[in-house]
Amino acid sequence: MKPSSNYHIPVMVQEVISGLITDQNGVYVDATLGGGGHSSAMLDILGPNAVVIGIDRDAESISQVSEVLSSDTRLLINKGNFGQLDSILTECRCNQVHGILYDLGVSSRQIDSPIRGFSYRLDGPLDMRMDNNLPIDATKFIANATQDEIISVLRDYGEERNASFIAKALIKRRSSSTIQTTSHLREVVESTRPKILNKTLSRVFQAIRIAINNELEQLSDSLNTSLRRLRSGGRLATIAYHSLEDRIVKKKMANLIRDCNCPPQLPKCMCSGIAEFIKVGRGRFYPSEEEVARNSRARSATLRIYEKRESTI
Ligand SMILES: C[S@@+](CC[C@H](N)C(=O)[O-])C[C@H]1O[C@@H](n2cnc3c(N)ncnc32)[C@H](O)[C@@H]1O
Repeated sequence: MKPSSNYHIPVMVQEVISGLITDQNGVYVDATLGGGGHSSAMLDILGPNAVVIGIDRDAESISQVSEVLSSDTRLLINKGNFGQLDSILTECRCNQVHGILYDLGVSSRQIDSPIRGFSYRLDGPLDMRMDNNLPIDATKFIANATQDEIISVLRDYGEERNASFIAKALIKRRSSSTIQTTSHLREVVESTRPKILNKTLSRVFQAIRIAINNELEQLSDSLNTSLRRLRSGGRLATIAYHSLEDRIVKKKMANLIRDCNCPPQLPKCMCSGIAEFIKVGRGRFYPSEEEVARNSRARSATLRIYEKRESTI
């Protein structure tokens, strides 16, 4: 495998490659290019006529991957949002694809860069935008959101029980000074004296990041495109790092992997439906203990793999 552009270690790379690649010269999408680790592993085993369409919304990721992998003409690098997958595929003159990978969330490079503001462990500007063209960063969000909006974000995207308490503390603090660094946000959360500080900080930072990057809606929209754009026998692989992302994938696929979608009140099946997708293997995979020991960021990963059935065409 060629070195990827930075120290982000691709998660469950062997499982992804063996689950996703069905045709050595097929067309694949890496919807979350990041440091290019998964793309690089794909290119290693793909044939000369294969194509990998790599997408990332982060300009830094695009330039880092371009430096290392752009000499491989099988990789088409796109700066964009996977929410625009449909138009990206159209621009690449690509109708249907053999496989699509989503390795969700942020890369190690993004988390470990203080100026990106993703980590509560590092002091830096409170930014959290994956794409720095987005008009609202975390500082602006906290400065302008109503108390109810902050509560909803912390509850819905952080599953934070003390959302209301933390939102009140944020509103109080912002009335005297702008909350504009990760340390400011951290101080406010600390002032609410949570039982397990790091867990609360991680939920609060996650919630605000998801909100300003509109992560869940884009995932849902993009999956709809993916399901349509996969050819028969093509595969979808998703790696989620928290239950909100994983639930979106699981819920969307639940009806599609069931033959019968009749209302549960019916005594017997009237729809004669046939599932459009099947799970690959067990359908759900976790990193080995050995991988987690090597790369602690893999510990919360859930990989799901589905195949579009031949009969759906
Ligand atoms: C976990 S990293 C991917 C790492 C990559 N698989 C590797 O091996 O290096 C997730 C990447 O997805 C990107 N990303 C997240 N949401 C996105 C979206 N809606 N559209 C495009 N890229 C997105 C992030 O900017 C980040 O670079």
